[in-house]
Amino acid sequence: MIIAYGSSGEHLARAVAKITQFRVAETETRRFPDGELYVRVIGDASGEDVAVFQSLGMRPDRLLMEYCLIADAVKGMGCRTVTGVIPYLAYARQDARFGSGEPLSIKLVAKSLESAGTDRLISVDAHLHRLKALKEVFTIPTLNLSAMPLLAEHYREEFGVRNVIVVGPDSESEQWASAVAETLSTKYSILSKERIGDREVEISGSLSVRGKTAVLVDDIISTGRTLVGAIRKLRSSGAKRIDVLATHALLVEGALGLLRRAGMSHLLSTDTIPRRASKVSVAPMIADALREWR
Ligand code: R5P
Repeated sequence: MIIAYGSSGEHLARAVAKITQFRVAETETRRFPDGELYVRVIGDASGEDVAVFQSLGMRPDRLLMEYCLIADAVKGMGCRTVTGVIPYLAYARQDARFGSGEPLSIKLVAKSLESAGTDRLISVDAHLHRLKALKEVFTIPTLNLSAMPLLAEHYREEFGVRNVIVVGPDSESEQWASAVAETLSTKYSILSKERIGDREVEISGSLSVRGKTAVLVDDIISTGRTLVGAIRKLRSSGAKRIDVLATHALLVEGALGLLRRAGMSHLLSTDTIPRRASKVSVAPMIADALREWR
């Protein structure tokens, strides 16, 4: 297998190559004066299985296009298969036409990845809410890995588990909160969220957290507003300490500061999007998946 990468996939591509000893095909990327992207994959991929790494965080549209160009490039070299390794799959939150005139974005992203030549997809904690599995929108084989047990294990090693309750901020977070609670052998509770706007949410629910350490769990932190609402709710309910575990720490528009000021003690995230809080690497898990899927 050969590993290729886009500009937001290089760190994981190199980490996985180090573990697996798969060869890395370097990518040259630049922009034409009018803003179009140019990519070139260096080397020969003919007859090879190629894994193309790209996380779609932060500049999702540009990164998606870059991925598609790379997938098409290696297909054009005559590679045998393309495995898209897209640890953070953007647009999964638009998994329905909520209002008239809206696109079904995740389906379009799936079609774009497939039409670029992707034969199989590996993602990590894809935002599955109304969709129960990626196969509802992809026609190719997909593997949705979860980093939640790894985050929980790291949490246990760093902080221990004494008087801890796991909390999810909204109904869809139950899948991730329950996985963390299981690894920590503790209980979990789920709050309710009403989204009022892109940067406004209302969190409700009553929890018995007085004097406890609450470990808040979510898949994505974008503006941080969901978790800030949950932290306020936990503080007013008497939680002694509040830590956060999240797979994809987008942390846009000063979210980290908001979370700290709201009362978050520690944040642990993965390197699907590299951040200072990315203390857990998903590279070993992706390396295993690629080896097993060959
Ligand atoms: C959606 O429900 C996700 O699971 C996250 O809760 C959401 O994306 C977080 O967004 P924000 O940080 O902007 O509230």
